[in-house]
Amino acid sequence: MLELDQLSLCYRTRKQAALSNVSLSFRKGEFVCILGKSGAGKSTLIRCINGLQRPTSGKVIWREVNISSLREKDLRNIRKDMGMIFQHFNLIPRMSVYQNVLIGMFGNRSSIKNFLGIFSKEEKEEALRALENVELIEQSQYRIEELSGGQKQRVAIARALLQQPKLFLGDEPVASLDPSTSKKIFELLQTIHNEQQLLTIINVHDVELAKKFATRIVALKDGRVIFDGKPEDFTDEKYALIYDTSIVNHYTPIQDKKVI
Ligand SMILES: Nc1ncnc2c1ncn2[C@@H]1O[C@H](COP(=O)(O)OP(=O)(O)OP(=O)(O)O)[C@@H](O)[C@H]1O
Ligand SMILES: [Mg+2]
Repeated sequence: MLELDQLSLCYRTRKQAALSNVSLSFRKGEFVCILGKSGAGKSTLIRCINGLQRPTSGKVIWREVNISSLREKDLRNIRKDMGMIFQHFNLIPRMSVYQNVLIGMFGNRSSIKNFLGIFSKEEKEEALRALENVELIEQSQYRIEELSGGQKQRVAIARALLQQPKLFLGDEPVASLDPSTSKKIFELLQTIHNEQQLLTIINVHDVELAKKFATRIVALKDGRVIFDGKPEDFTDEKYALIYDTSIVNHYTPIQDKKVI
């Protein structure tokens, strides 16, 4: 479904490549967590996948189309297949939860309708269904700025879902949330992933979450893939290699962690 073929990227201002010869192939139904310490190339990889960043060499092949060579206009069409969530949610703070979710439909509609803010009865119902899915129907008229971090991320998930994506991408979507809320967000992502048979690829710093929810872990170090396998094979030795630490017990069960 998604093929990364010898992907390399060197930012113009940098000597060292952010990605070096990354070749990976992803299938529908996989829930992939990307691990790696800060600067390893995780965000760069996600940006290459959704076409926000063009690789220096290599290809990103999405459903048999090499998107690395597409023009911006054609890329926009491809991006409709890709729902994206971010660490800082990317919502409009002064607008309501409901309005923010409706915006998720913009990619599939005419610009004039978007400009005038005209939505059909079906579209409005769909937005409300998406809010029901993330259990925010009662807060639908709240302004984004009135919500907690976990609620904001649920709005962002509902908005991304309205695009009816085939690929769900996340760049550290739980990095600013407490451990218990992070787990709830991952449970929600897992439910949606299973119901809609998506391909999900999420960057995450929390190894416990990756081990608990991913069906596959990919770890990057200095822009290279140094682990690609099942969560159970991601051992303490692999952890130490990726994060340059000595081997200690890194995994505190989530329920024992103090909730902030
Ligand atoms: N726009 C840019 N211009 C130049 N260098 C960049 C740019 N964005 C990222 N880099 C560099 O590319 C490398 C990979 O960065 P990237 O943001 O992909 O890492 P990351 O794994 O997402 O890190 P973090 O966990 O801190 O988010 C780093 O060395 C970073 O400094
Ligand atoms: Mg990053």
